[in-house]
Amino acid sequence: TRRVILDVDTGNDDAVALMIAALHPAIDLVGCTTAAGNLTIDQTTDNTLRVLDHVGCSDVPVYRGLAKPFAPRPFPFTELEPIHEPTLPLAEPRSRARTTPAVEWLIETLRTTTERITLVPVAPLTNIAAALTVAPEIRDAVDEIVIMGGGHAFGNRTVSAEFNIYYDPVAADVVLQAGFERLVLIPLDATLQALVSDEQIRELDALGTPGGTGAAAVLAGYVSGGVAGAPSVRPVHDALCIAYLLDPDVVRLTRYHVAVDTTGYQSFGRTIVDVRSQGGDDPNAWFATSADAARFYDILRSTLRDDHEQ
Ligand code: BDR
Ligand code: CA
Repeated sequence: TRRVILDVDTGNDDAVALMIAALHPAIDLVGCTTAAGNLTIDQTTDNTLRVLDHVGCSDVPVYRGLAKPFAPRPFPFTELEPIHEPTLPLAEPRSRARTTPAVEWLIETLRTTTERITLVPVAPLTNIAAALTVAPEIRDAVDEIVIMGGGHAFGNRTVSAEFNIYYDPVAADVVLQAGFERLVLIPLDATLQALVSDEQIRELDALGTPGGTGAAAVLAGYVSGGVAGAPSVRPVHDALCIAYLLDPDVVRLTRYHVAVDTTGYQSFGRTIVDVRSQGGDDPNAWFATSADAARFYDILRSTLRDDHEQ
């Protein structure tokens, strides 16, 4: 099994990522840290606990993260209608978050672990950047960092920027330039190819397991902006990172240098992907350029089909 830490701003698609990470026997979910982003830190922490309780994995510890991004409020800022449910349609949590703050726990855990850990942030990168700033050496305890974020062909929060990066571009750049041995970026280019249909949601619901009905319930409440030709779609962005851990062939990866625009106007928070090696910097990321939707759905269904044995 692979030891994994998940950093989430739960969030409807985060919820599905959490479910499959918690349920799959090949993943040992060491803990979850919560981030502000989709919702406030209180809401994302509450939603995270709901999801873990729902699938019978209340034993996974949850640590509350930082409430505010590093970034100043970006200049071309427009409020958008929230697309995530402030309270997920799952029962109130029975468990509580631990009292140790997320950044402290991340540092302590990565400093003391004897086995390397896979870090999977599917939220703005505030907690991870803070931990790296205090203790840069924790990088070496991470065998692979798999981030949901960015986009080369398009953005979703603005024309040019993806939400997780736009919310805290300074933090994102700190993480991208930290020198991780293996950094994988799962951007919109890939996640907007791994969509789930209404029929698939009905199929998940019909599994009748907590994972199946829970995922169907949170996916039913999540419609997000697509691209031309498909103006509204149901992506499950964050879950594609977990699917990648379970089956790396679910995405196609190319090695590029990726930076974040932290000063731009129209391009504030954009990931700048050097696809033609023009910048002279060595590649720092494996960038997912596409995803295999059928393979992705297969992983979702087969993982959510199983009941968790406590
Ligand atoms: C990312 O932004 C959030 O809204 C989702 O949870 C996902 O992590 C997609 O851009
Ligand atoms: Ca997220």
